[in-house]
Amino acid sequence: MNEKVTASAKILPLEHAIAPVLAALRDGHPVALPTETVYGLAADATRHDAVGAIYDAKGRPASNPLIIHVADQDMAQQYGIFSETAHKLIEAFWPGALTLVVPKVTPTKLTDAIFAGHETVAIRQPQGFMRNVIEAFGLPLAAPSANLSGQITATDATSVHEQLGDKIPLIVDAGRTIVGVESTILRVIDQEVTLLRDGGIAIEAIEEQLKTSIKRIEKHGQLLAPGMMQSHYAPNAKVMLNVRAVPEEAALINFGHQAIENMDKCRAMFELSAQGDLAEAAHNLFAALREMDQQANQICVAPIPHHGLGAAINDRLNRAAAERLDNA
Ligand code: TXA
Ligand code: MG
Repeated sequence: MNEKVTASAKILPLEHAIAPVLAALRDGHPVALPTETVYGLAADATRHDAVGAIYDAKGRPASNPLIIHVADQDMAQQYGIFSETAHKLIEAFWPGALTLVVPKVTPTKLTDAIFAGHETVAIRQPQGFMRNVIEAFGLPLAAPSANLSGQITATDATSVHEQLGDKIPLIVDAGRTIVGVESTILRVIDQEVTLLRDGGIAIEAIEEQLKTSIKRIEKHGQLLAPGMMQSHYAPNAKVMLNVRAVPEEAALINFGHQAIENMDKCRAMFELSAQGDLAEAAHNLFAALREMDQQANQICVAPIPHHGLGAAINDRLNRAAAERLDNA
């Protein structure tokens, strides 16, 4: 048996996971599952108790709605109203790292808890294991990222266990997730498209597909998905961005082998991508924050370009660097 039994949550390798995952979901428990973006904390989106258990485990405010994950377009249509433009996006980017916020179908089997009072629903078709689970389960799964509210996003099973191991029965281990940052979120109402969160699909790719530029909803320079409070992804260390020189007591997160003053003397270093590849940097981002957080009280990050996946990387880093609010 190579399944690891821990004090609390069981960590199961992918190959042995589907039956116990389905059993836990049928019992109304949330389980941590790998997706292509980040690990998700998944539960039956039609059950109030199961979705309530997600909010409890994460310590997530009830005002922050959840994404539902579907197996295919047919399942998506049962819960959301997709315009012609939304269909174009689905054709181009599903399954994948794109969440669409669309008007919800009413009446609905989904529990009210996932909407947090909104008239819209956020829907995504993931690929791989998560999709197979949903197909076998036959109902959509509500799944936020599998971390404590406001803490660093988990991109491997051990990180999920550190944050949620004493609160959930099961974590499925598929190694480090491929994309490494959460999905891009677009609101699509009729033919109007608005960016709510930068993520795993670059906005340039979406604009190219729709042959138009996309509006961002911003307030004080921040995108407006309801859950995106400024201080988020918060390590214990203080995070400094766009550094050109690093103090000896700090850890450095570098990108593309930049020459940062004093880098040979600093406490620890993590190279996000020696080749300067933004997809590789996104894949490594949260592991870098977690690892450097263990090494120093200050994390300095070299400048990272803003195009492509750089938008999502810079967004997450800005939040990690933001002043902490007590309730974040
Ligand atoms: O890649 C991802 O999107 C991951 C994986 C697990 O799928 N999920 C994820 O979920 O990042 P979460 O809950 O950590 O972030 C979802 C964001 C939140 O900021 C939430 O406020 C927003 O989506 N959201 C959910 N429903 C919404 C709605 N109806 N309108 C606007 N924003 C919504
Ligand atoms: Mg999250």
